[in-house]
Amino acid sequence: MSPKVPHYAVLGRPVAHSLSPQIHAEFGKQCGIAVIYLRLDTSELGFADTLARFAKAGGVGANITAPHKAEAAQLCQSLGYRAQQAGIVNTLIWRNGAWHGANTDGSGLLRDIRERHDLNLESRRVLLLGAGGAAQGVAPALLEAGISQMVIANRSLERARQLAERLDAADAALACTLTELPDMGSFDLIIQATSAGHHGEQLTLPHSILQKDSLCIDLNYGRAALPFTAWARSQHCRRVADGLGMLVEQAADAFAFWHGIRPDTAPVYNKLRISARL
Ligand SMILES: NC(=O)c1ccc[n+]([C@@H]2O[C@H](COP(=O)([O-])OP(=O)(O)OC[C@H]3O[C@@H](n4cnc5c(N)ncnc54)[C@H](OP(=O)(O)O)[C@@H]3O)[C@@H](O)[C@H]2O)c1
Repeated sequence: MSPKVPHYAVLGRPVAHSLSPQIHAEFGKQCGIAVIYLRLDTSELGFADTLARFAKAGGVGANITAPHKAEAAQLCQSLGYRAQQAGIVNTLIWRNGAWHGANTDGSGLLRDIRERHDLNLESRRVLLLGAGGAAQGVAPALLEAGISQMVIANRSLERARQLAERLDAADAALACTLTELPDMGSFDLIIQATSAGHHGEQLTLPHSILQKDSLCIDLNYGRAALPFTAWARSQHCRRVADGLGMLVEQAADAFAFWHGIRPDTAPVYNKLRISARL
């Protein structure tokens, strides 16, 4: 890669599965911007060195995926509002010789929920399953969208508590373990933000968390989303979705951060559903 060509990348471990290069290529075509976007696996050099080498070679923007979102925030000279709230970043931009971080996971999920699934979040009770990077990224945006309460249920109670404390929202954000869910009532919106499905594992969830019209969204897509979405359907839930919508929306926000224009996500979402067989 010529050092003079500005380019973009997704950094993570692993990244071979990432749809980001395809999504940003489609956005670029739509907006008339020639986008060079790479996959950079950090297994060999580690995150900091991979990022440094990328910047030296002309890298000007990066998406950060697991497990580097917290480390990326540490390497930034400045953080946008959502990244500061979450303490983690999923998007970097190179400006004036330093990295600046943003978090577009929350804005991406909100847009998906409101526009693709037509759910007004005002006064809703939300169950967030998981307390890792994805949950940390979306929780502040959900709370600010006017929900009445968020219950964060995680395998490790400590991590759920840390997230609830960070949100600093008193009773509007409660932490519990997955085994306490039968005592937590029912929810308008259930967000599956764990990585259990990547290992083919199914969370043990009680039927009591569902209401008649609950919206169930798994932030994963493809095979990793199957255990939760299959569970929701088996419980006769009619509104079930995977994380492809959020993926495309958070990518569009990253694209806008880098190029100053937000692409139309619908054609890209529809194309991926077919071409990636999702
Ligand atoms: N659609 C999108 O745009 C988008 C964006 C970001 C992430 N994601 C997806 O969201 C998922 C989570 O990502 P992340 O960054 O939060 O990962 P992470 O930081 O590694 O956190 C993993 C989470 O999953 C939980 N977990 C893992 N295995 C489990 C199991 N067998 N049973 C119960 N809980 C389990 C962990 O619980 P403990 O704390 O107890 O270990 C933790 O809460 C990933 O699969 C990722 O692909 C999607």
